[in-house]
Amino acid sequence: MKAVIYDRRGPAREVLRLVDRPVPEPGPGEVRIKVAVSALNPSDLKARSGLNASAPLLFPLATPHRDGAGVIDKVGSGVEASRIGERVWFNQILKQHPFGSAAEYTLASAHLAWRLPEAASFADGACLPIPGVTAHAALMRDKPLAGRNVLIQGGAGGVGFYAVQLARLAGARTVIATVSRDAQAVVAREAGAHAVVNYRDADARQQIEAAAGEPNAIHHIVEVNLAVNAALDAAVLAEGGVIAAYASDADQQPRVPFRGLNPKDAIVRFVGMSAMAETDRRRAAADIIRLLEEHRLKHHIAARFPLEQTIEAHELLEGGKVVGKVLVDVAAI
Ligand SMILES: NC(=O)c1ccc[n+]([C@@H]2O[C@H](COP(=O)([O-])OP(=O)(O)OC[C@H]3O[C@@H](n4cnc5c(N)ncnc54)[C@H](OP(=O)(O)O)[C@@H]3O)[C@@H](O)[C@H]2O)c1
Repeated sequence: MKAVIYDRRGPAREVLRLVDRPVPEPGPGEVRIKVAVSALNPSDLKARSGLNASAPLLFPLATPHRDGAGVIDKVGSGVEASRIGERVWFNQILKQHPFGSAAEYTLASAHLAWRLPEAASFADGACLPIPGVTAHAALMRDKPLAGRNVLIQGGAGGVGFYAVQLARLAGARTVIATVSRDAQAVVAREAGAHAVVNYRDADARQQIEAAAGEPNAIHHIVEVNLAVNAALDAAVLAEGGVIAAYASDADQQPRVPFRGLNPKDAIVRFVGMSAMAETDRRRAAADIIRLLEEHRLKHHIAARFPLEQTIEAHELLEGGKVVGKVLVDVAAI
């Protein structure tokens, strides 16, 4: 099969290669998937480039990308044979095996290969695993959102775009998205944000308060950059409010303002998709599947590349200018 691989960390152009590899065999509890579309996430770039990972490679040779969509063509022991032929959107645990989705065939744990309704295309499905499940996990595990004010930091990002949608669908009263430029504002509004604030504006806090109707009135925050935003989050949070942080790229050891959060009896929760309870993940997948069936989720695809141009796909995402998902088309199924 055709597969993109790397056997050392570094810039995409230096380390990614398209090669012929044996088709992998599914182990116990795994399914093999004929890949239609492979999706890039920032964690794929970090794994390849070595950012946040100075340790040796987990595997001597690996195929990149943990998200994708395709059709199950073989199952390992313990997995019902009836799943063969099923259209799926899937996520892979990085440490489990080196077979990412930038290849004609890949492997996934059966419980991380979720049914893809006919209503959704393979591209739609590939957009969703890490971003959709993370957005759900950041929003739905604490207090109900109906009638509440929700702030989505980075509302045009991969995760943020679905977080805005899920917060709206959950009945939030006001969904406020932060962005850093006009192209992102358009996307955040497309997702359904009631208000969009440029987080670089000097009066971003006042704009958020105005959108919420009063100070200290944000009940739930989905946080993409805790180190940068912790002080602002603490300032706008309502008493008993929740900050659900899934990333802190600016600083992995963020300072959390105890004095701002303690008097508000705030909950700061961390969101780690790979480690979350299987019950939560299953609930997220079930909700997303239902929304796909009902045609209630939007997807924002910025660019699609053929497998042969996986390097260009990495470079585009790494450039930091693209707004929306970057996909790699592997095969027309
Ligand atoms: N914990 C988990 O399980 C988990 C799951 C998914 C993703 N992640 C991590 O979460 C991060 C984002 O992932 P993604 O796929 O959503 O990436 P993405 O598509 O690049 O989106 C990130 C968004 O955050 C915005 N942003 C950056 N700094 C911000 C700030 N201080 N305030 C508000 N917005 C800010 C970015 O806009 P600008 O840069 O233009 O400002 C961008 O729109 C990555 O580090 C990823 O590895 C973690």
